[in-house]
Amino acid sequence: MTDSGPRLVSSPAEMQAETAAMRLQARTIGFVPTMGALHDGHMSLVRRARTENDAVVVSIFVNPTQFGPGEDFDAYPRDRAADLEKCASEGVDLVFAPGGGDMYPEGHCTTVDVLRLTDNLCGLSRPGHFRGVATVVLKLLNIVQPHRAYFGEKDYQQFLVVKRMVRDLFIPVEIVPCELFRDRDGLAMSSRNNYLSAEERVDALVLKEALDHFRRRVEEGELSAVTLMGEMAELIESVPSTQIDYVAIVDADTLEDLSTIKGRVLAALAVMVGDTRLIDNTVVEV
Ligand code: PAF
Repeated sequence: MTDSGPRLVSSPAEMQAETAAMRLQARTIGFVPTMGALHDGHMSLVRRARTENDAVVVSIFVNPTQFGPGEDFDAYPRDRAADLEKCASEGVDLVFAPGGGDMYPEGHCTTVDVLRLTDNLCGLSRPGHFRGVATVVLKLLNIVQPHRAYFGEKDYQQFLVVKRMVRDLFIPVEIVPCELFRDRDGLAMSSRNNYLSAEERVDALVLKEALDHFRRRVEEGELSAVTLMGEMAELIESVPSTQIDYVAIVDADTLEDLSTIKGRVLAALAVMVGDTRLIDNTVVEV
């Protein structure tokens, strides 16, 4: 870090040279990949990386290949100055902010597909999304070559996909899951919360209410996934501005649908609130 904040690097080759020098000095590197519009959820990952490593690298890149046609790539919030300020205040050493051509050079034709884990949930409703995520995360890991990389569990499926890719491809990095971070009112932190009107923000709290309901009913002994999904859907649908993309109850390790609550179970939601698609989840162990 410099006096005026983290060093900003946009070239992959320069970034590789920077972190190679750190590794030569036996400094451990913690990496937080982001698409920018940094919020307290991101910063909780940065703080954790700060405590567990000698140096912290944050990447900021709105990755076009993980957005489908008609999704919000163009509208995705971008605020470089605010992001850099937040990184400076948390002692980030390097910010990697490449351009599209840096990450996808002319003629690029290599992608990564993580199978099976991407057949359900967001993989079903956003075809191609996880190919874009896995491909860009592998590129970022090869560029930064960190010891540890930090992923929030709000994007639970993304975390599992990245963890499996790292295992399957023998990538020498530890993937560290970080607990989902909620705002004071309970809404899961997301850069997309910026799109919500004041009214929609209140409506969006129904996602957390549905997940709380799920936990409560499981504690009471309700073990039928169909019943629980129906009750969650009913709660969400009672708010007129919402439209359900999916309400799912799946095995928390394989993401396969469950009919009975047993073992580690993930309840996951994707819901449109107005024009904004929000996701949230919770894991229970029975
Ligand atoms: O979670 C995100 O912000 C993105 O999916 C990631 C991991 C930075 C890849 O573009």
